[in-house]
Amino acid sequence: MAESAVIEISGLVKSFKGHLGLGRKVAVSGLDLSVGRGEIFGLLGPNGAGKTTTLKAMIGLLRPDAGSVRLFGRPPSDVSARARIGFLPENPYFYDYLTAPEFLDFYGRLHGFGRAERRRRVEATLERVGLDAGRSQALRKFSKGMVQRLGLAQAILHDPDLVILDEPMSGLDPIGRREVRDLILELREAGKTVFFSSHILQDAELICDRVGIVVEGRLRHLGVLDQMVRSKPRWFEVAVRGQVPSPWDREVASASGEKVMVKVPDVAELGRLLAAVAESPAEVVSVWPRRESLEDLFMKEVARER
Ligand SMILES: Nc1ncnc2c1ncn2[C@@H]1O[C@H](COP(=O)(O)OP(=O)(O)O)[C@@H](O)[C@H]1O
Ligand SMILES: [Mg+2]
Repeated sequence: MAESAVIEISGLVKSFKGHLGLGRKVAVSGLDLSVGRGEIFGLLGPNGAGKTTTLKAMIGLLRPDAGSVRLFGRPPSDVSARARIGFLPENPYFYDYLTAPEFLDFYGRLHGFGRAERRRRVEATLERVGLDAGRSQALRKFSKGMVQRLGLAQAILHDPDLVILDEPMSGLDPIGRREVRDLILELREAGKTVFFSSHILQDAELICDRVGIVVEGRLRHLGVLDQMVRSKPRWFEVAVRGQVPSPWDREVASASGEKVMVKVPDVAELGRLLAAVAESPAEVVSVWPRRESLEDLFMKEVARER
């Protein structure tokens, strides 16, 4: 694992001067994390948890007070590591008077691509992020969603191996969020590593291989999403039409019309209930296995810290 790690963060600490220069605010407090090639990793946490600070330290925009970051085994300031990274900042702002193709062409120059290569990449990337239609508009007329797409285009123009995105779904409508999720999945299919921060748990839940939950600068939970939240059901909700047989008539959680909802704790109990209902005049309408969601886990971690 160690040699194939694309990102290695160890003991990362970063604090800022407090208000009016009083005291210090610890934004990230001893964070350890390692992300392997081809992973989609989501760094999740409430506002002010330290996500952006972590991302900035990762790409070398901030110097940590302590600890280290290695990208492809090198410090983030290393030119050869930088060339392999794409970054979308939290609230991207771009020069207003350019069009999207002009702006991306400028980025292509920064990467040192020749004219024909730039043209090819700009066209392909505009298409990929769904900005083809807005190509002749000046950026000042762009909606928040279009700016976000352009930020993504800028981050992937040079075909980086590691894409770091700070709140990539923020400001997007459900269709835009879906498109960003699909784009992230495409990047993984192409063998890229994606590291993004988000406070939109549902989006992370749909695409991440692993997530880290950070609260007040500390990593509170790190794990494989499937194992964390899609393991066995915590309980079952069974909707029954008619009279629920005893003793389950005491377990009725709610009722609407002639349907009642019975809550049972496990599969064995579920089997007994289904058999009893089958023997009775009542009928089963639905069985709903309830799993802990990422949101349940997230709320628990946030509550624990506070
Ligand atoms: N440049 C800065 N100067 C002072 N405090 C900062 C600075 N950047 C971030 N902070 C503080 O550090 C904490 C973490 O911020 P941030 O990393 O932006 O969190 P997140 O991205 O999770 O919302 C917050 O309390 C924030 O106010
Ligand atoms: Mg942030």
